[in-house]
Amino acid sequence: MLTSCTTEKPAPAAIAATPGAASAHVPAELYDGLGARHATISPKFLYDALGSKLFEAICELPEYYPTRTEAGIFARYGREIARACGLGTTMIDLGAGNCAKAAKLFPLLRPAQYVAVDISTEFVSDALARLRLRFPHIDMQALGLDFSSGLELPDNVRAERRLFFYPGSSLGNFTPPEARVFLTRLRKGCGPDGGLLIGIDLAKDKAILDAAYDDALGVTAAFNLNVLRHVNQLLGSDFDIRQWRHVGFYNEAAGRVEMHLEAKQAQRVCWPGGGRDFAEGERIHTENSYKYRQADAIVLLEQSGFEATRVWTDPRCPFAVIHAQAIA
Ligand code: AVJ
Repeated sequence: MLTSCTTEKPAPAAIAATPGAASAHVPAELYDGLGARHATISPKFLYDALGSKLFEAICELPEYYPTRTEAGIFARYGREIARACGLGTTMIDLGAGNCAKAAKLFPLLRPAQYVAVDISTEFVSDALARLRLRFPHIDMQALGLDFSSGLELPDNVRAERRLFFYPGSSLGNFTPPEARVFLTRLRKGCGPDGGLLIGIDLAKDKAILDAAYDDALGVTAAFNLNVLRHVNQLLGSDFDIRQWRHVGFYNEAAGRVEMHLEAKQAQRVCWPGGGRDFAEGERIHTENSYKYRQADAIVLLEQSGFEATRVWTDPRCPFAVIHAQAIA
């Protein structure tokens, strides 16, 4: 603990009860990450209301190919995808955000029930309210929860014919072993008749990946830096955002894109009950985004108890949409 940081701020318990803190566990996880020798902030903290909007803006960037490429695959192969998934499912959208991807598939997939899950409760509830007006015959509900640590679905979510929808390559935020644990949990949660429709970004040229995660406009930089604003809100810390710079690049050896925040100069950051010194150039690791080879993605699904039934790709920009069936 840093002595010059203490006393002026309220106690951590008071902060944990602040509106906006998703749960009492959130600060503990943040303290651990910030206190670690190599500081980390989990990427889920990127998504407060503003962060979700900045991510939407990222999806519009010319450099950020995943959203566009995946949408192209859905548009081109929608009918085949619907045939593989089946109609009348209970579609559970993990990290639904603005629900736009699912909404585009509704006319083809015709789910009976739609459950939009997102860590940003406010954002997803607003999106769902608009969607209900467009698709009044689909039974919809929004669930504001952090599904990375568990997925307790309410009783009114039908147990049969569940289709987990996990687009956008969000799986890439997990390390491969974590991804296996997560997918195994999904497989158990979707039952024997259940399935998974997942979008997974594939390894590609370093120059393309570097640009996608460090765009010319600086939207990704704003998205990454915004995590410090969110952390300041959650912890009552005093990160000075102007003192940090965005770093995003493809680490080819590790098979992942990494995002970091780098201290522009030596500084001390304080929060109630503690704090930390950062040296000039020291980094906080905020995100990993693993890029798979197609064969490895399929093996990962198989190791998690799924059988990949179909794979759709874009030959011009490697990205895979996979339908997988849960095996009992
Ligand atoms: C939402 C995790 C899929 O890794 O590409 C975009 C998040 N980070 N730009 C990704 C992100 C920087 C995105 N995922």
